[in-house]
Amino acid sequence: MVQSQAVRLESCQVEPLETNAIELGLKALSDLELIASGGLSPLTGFMGQADYENVLKDMCLQNGTLFPFPITLPLDDPQKALKPGETVGLCFEGKVVGYVEVEDAFERDLQREALATFGTDDAAHPGVAMLFEESPQVVAGRAFADLDRLPKLFPEHRLSPLDARKAFQERGWKTIVGFQTRNPIHRAHEYLIKCALEVVDGVFLHPLVGATKADDVPADVRMRCYEVLIEHYFPKDRVVLGINPATMRYAGPKEAIFHAIVRLNYGCTHFIVGRDHAGVGSYYGTFDAQKIFDTLPKGALEMEILKFDNAFYCNACEAMATAKTCPHPSSSHVSLSGTKLRELLLNGEMPGKEITRPAVARVLIDAMRSHVG
Ligand code: ADX
Repeated sequence: MVQSQAVRLESCQVEPLETNAIELGLKALSDLELIASGGLSPLTGFMGQADYENVLKDMCLQNGTLFPFPITLPLDDPQKALKPGETVGLCFEGKVVGYVEVEDAFERDLQREALATFGTDDAAHPGVAMLFEESPQVVAGRAFADLDRLPKLFPEHRLSPLDARKAFQERGWKTIVGFQTRNPIHRAHEYLIKCALEVVDGVFLHPLVGATKADDVPADVRMRCYEVLIEHYFPKDRVVLGINPATMRYAGPKEAIFHAIVRLNYGCTHFIVGRDHAGVGSYYGTFDAQKIFDTLPKGALEMEILKFDNAFYCNACEAMATAKTCPHPSSSHVSLSGTKLRELLLNGEMPGKEITRPAVARVLIDAMRSHVG
């Protein structure tokens, strides 16, 4: 059951929320939007210490529900003394966007949280670096947001979990595969989605548009890539494009679980996990993000994970393939990854049609030129 924590601040009895308010960082802002829309159900707020400890230790909330890492609300000023029972405004860029009913306040050990979440406390890891910039002091409690006051990214694709469920229902879909991505869409992504579309009713293309590391392709450019790909290469009645406001943590296996939980809340029955899902650098094994699902207790996640092998373009097959379907040597294979695509663009090279569709390549090259110019 998806629980919405959305409110209209104008009609709230809890103003003035500006006094003693907390200014949110980008990660907490994304988390708030997801909490308020029901995307993080069963969470209805930021985690208290008991859930926090349980999640770090056993990957589940105190009540036993699967949750891979903490969702916390760091204080903008560690000196701020907030007491249980207080209602505190949550601001972004000085504007109140929601509030939290404080139930708990505690101090985290950031190094321990990093090790449990990312498997490393190396500050060169972008998720760890982001965590280490936060205050260890956090407050917890039920959180509410006025979705109309949050930054309105890509309004035409801004579907809440309830909107997405309605869209699936209107199309008569019973089985829906969720697809997470933070990269411009390349041929391997398209291949995975199309393989999945052979067995489910529709795809929920749900790119992450929250904060990403600086060298990732900006969300507006990626959105244009998804739109042109759908326009030219997908049956439009089998795709819904929505945005996932989450911040990218690059937590590999644990983030794959997080991504799946979010898509479950949006109404997906299936979720794609390919090669090095949510990975960065060489912190995780190529298929760690798939293996972690095999360790979950039965019934912990009521959706089917579609696991895909490394997909490449094979020059001999003249098609996309994996080692499961292609007999040719690796010398015939063109490997595909977001990193490779970004490298080509940085070198000013036009990605070939084995790497990404020409319409997508054009969007990327144009964006690159306008960025450089
Ligand atoms: S992610 O960080 O959001 O996972 P990305 O947008 O690159 O990154 O990937 C989206 C999904 O496609 C992930 O499930 C990832 O594992 C999968 N994927 C990306 N490239 C490949 C590939 N060449 N072969 C198989 N799966 C892939």
